Amino acid sequence: MTFDISKIIRPNILTLEPYRCARDDFQEGILLDANENTYGPGLDRLSTTEKALNLNRYPDPHQIELKKKICAYRNSQALKPESLIKVPSGQELTADNLCLGVGSDESIDALIRASVKPGAEKVMLCPPTYGMYSICCVVNDVEIVQVPLNLDTFQIQPDKILEQLRRDPAIKLVYITSPGNPTATLIKQDLLLEVLRGIERLSWNGFLLLDEAYIDFSPIGSSMCVLVNKYKNLVVMQTFSKAFGLAGIRLGITYSTPELSSLLNAMKYPYNVSNITSSIALRATNLSSLKKMRATVDVIVEQRSLVLEQILKLKGVGRNIGGTNSNFILIELLNRQGVADNAVAREVYSKLATERQVVVRFRGNELGCKGCLRITIGTPEENRKLLEQFEQVLNEVYEKS
Ligand SMILES: Cc1ncc(COP(=O)(O)O)c(C=O)c1O
Repeated sequence: MTFDISKIIRPNILTLEPYRCARDDFQEGILLDANENTYGPGLDRLSTTEKALNLNRYPDPHQIELKKKICAYRNSQALKPESLIKVPSGQELTADNLCLGVGSDESIDALIRASVKPGAEKVMLCPPTYGMYSICCVVNDVEIVQVPLNLDTFQIQPDKILEQLRRDPAIKLVYITSPGNPTATLIKQDLLLEVLRGIERLSWNGFLLLDEAYIDFSPIGSSMCVLVNKYKNLVVMQTFSKAFGLAGIRLGITYSTPELSSLLNAMKYPYNVSNITSSIALRATNLSSLKKMRATVDVIVEQRSLVLEQILKLKGVGRNIGGTNSNFILIELLNRQGVADNAVAREVYSKLATERQVVVRFRGNELGCKGCLRITIGTPEENRKLLEQFEQVLNEVYEKS
């Protein structure tokens, strides 16, 4: 079928004229066009770095230089010989494929607002998954249809997804998380391609939104973002919050066709990426910073193996039910009968936080995650303390379970 974006996007968004900023036409000279305070920031002191940020000026709404650097990085990763996913020749990412937002959370919401009619259309989720998708669905008054992951492998079930899309034309978006949260499992490329090809066969008018927040903890070249020019229904989200270690700057990236990207850019608040955020992100995408990011990822991956190895030896710990493709693990806690137990997991979670100042996440109420705690991999010192405190607390709780 020929992809027709006008059948997916809500009519009010299709006709949206982007907000024109004062700076769209002229950027140089005596700038008295945007009602800024030309006297400068109202701060008692300004460091040299703060001065350079031009904090009294509105940020650039387009961020082309930053987008180009992000594309260069992702294209180059996909060209590496060991890359699992290659960028199709002539379809490399360009700045026109990108929309930047206040973390991925903004992108999650934007896609719903762009394409799903409140009170009428639906979004498909594949639990267990990231909690913000359903929050955004509720806020936007759109119904959720669930097609769970295979609970043994935490992989998607393409046949069930496609069957549901065939039966229910009101579904406009499918959210898939790869690697998953809380599952830490990278979704197999073959399964994602099966869905994308199936969608084309069905002539389904919607988007498959692949959330790759944790992709840089997976093998190099695992990202599907380089395929958005090939598969027009594919939208990929990434974030600076995880591997880049920059959750505080709030920067997320949406990769999609230039057509969708221009609509998402027209919809967004024009100044959503602050001067501080873009200046840090520009540094984070320099070659030397990218090297540092990759080196840190290597350490986290190594620490992940060590933590897993140690934790799985403890009495009362069951399986690592998740994968090993993220900066966290998902482990089962057992009672004395050897059964995964939410009461045990909840008590360990609570005692760790209140008595030992070690905070992990209880995930036992998520589908297929009974008795589970999700543990982020910390520094070697943090991990050592975690393991020490965890063993003591678990012993206490396990013995009386
Ligand atoms: C799967 C997933 N997507 C998106 C996000 C949000 O990322 P951001 O910090 O960019 O809003 C998270 C945060 O934990 C996440 O786990």
